[in-house]
Amino acid sequence: MNIPEIKLADGKMIPRIGLGLWKNTDPESFSLAFKAAIKVGYRHFDTAQAYGNEQLLGQSIKSSGIDRKNFFITTKIAVQNFGVKKSRNSFNESLRRLDTDYVDLLLLHFPIPVLRNKTWKVAEEIKAQGLARSIGVSNYTINHLKQLEQYATELPAVNQIEMHVFLQQTELSSYCKGKNIVIEAYSPLAHAKDMDNKTINNLAKKYRKSYAQIMLRWAYQQEVVVLPKSVNPQRIEENADIFDFALSDDDMRLIQAENRDLHTCWNPELIP
Ligand SMILES: NC(=O)c1ccc[n+]([C@@H]2O[C@H](COP(=O)([O-])OP(=O)(O)OC[C@H]3O[C@@H](n4cnc5c(N)ncnc54)[C@H](OP(=O)(O)O)[C@@H]3O)[C@@H](O)[C@H]2O)c1
Repeated sequence: MNIPEIKLADGKMIPRIGLGLWKNTDPESFSLAFKAAIKVGYRHFDTAQAYGNEQLLGQSIKSSGIDRKNFFITTKIAVQNFGVKKSRNSFNESLRRLDTDYVDLLLLHFPIPVLRNKTWKVAEEIKAQGLARSIGVSNYTINHLKQLEQYATELPAVNQIEMHVFLQQTELSSYCKGKNIVIEAYSPLAHAKDMDNKTINNLAKKYRKSYAQIMLRWAYQQEVVVLPKSVNPQRIEENADIFDFALSDDDMRLIQAENRDLHTCWNPELIP
């Protein structure tokens, strides 16, 4: 499968589907998932210091026989590693665990107050040194982005946020578009909880696609990067098989009506 890419504000390309790696820490199932993913064409992998699997990703890439430059690796600075010294040191540790000289995308994982400002400046330095090709943030609301604009030399290329049919994030999306910040949709399946929405089920029948594929295609048609997680080889393939159909404008409108502003992870709007 050929996974389309999108250009970031800094000129770098990013694959529109990435494999989410949260909670994938068992070496055997990690390896199985990674192999299944690269077999069907995934090259973009979304890890984080907090996920505890950077080392597994580094090893898997090394033993894949595929050149490092063909992969797109994202990692994120964990909240407990924010601050000047800690973020720099923890990033060096990430590089060591990933067994690489650079990451494609470095994100600040969460907008914790005060320290996020200094940590962003460290991310800018890391980028200037070529150790991260692109930098961005995660879980930033419009409020957090507006604050960042006051002290940043460079705006984030990416904002990774929870986004799915039930949390459509229209206001934040249009704000990011206006600033040329690409959104990455995390938890695009809303954790696959209660996959029983009537509209999605009807569309799955209509397009002869699975429930998950309708959810992922909706996200894809928002012009965002989509990050589904699975450890199951069949689902990994299914989740990338969304390029042979398109939801019509009318069907996109039907899905629009399913928004419930439902956060299934956390709500960063509570952070000042
Ligand atoms: N920046 C952040 O704060 C943040 C927060 C959350 C997530 N993320 C990123 O986004 C990624 C995805 O989000 P997520 O893991 O929270 O949730 P998700 O991708 O919405 O859902 C994952 C769940 O869906 C199941 N699943 C996957 N494909 C399926 C399919 N085709 N049919 C039915 N069930 C399916 C998975 O089970 P199986 O594995 O058994 O298939 C798993 O239980 C994470 O792994 C992480 O990389 C980032």
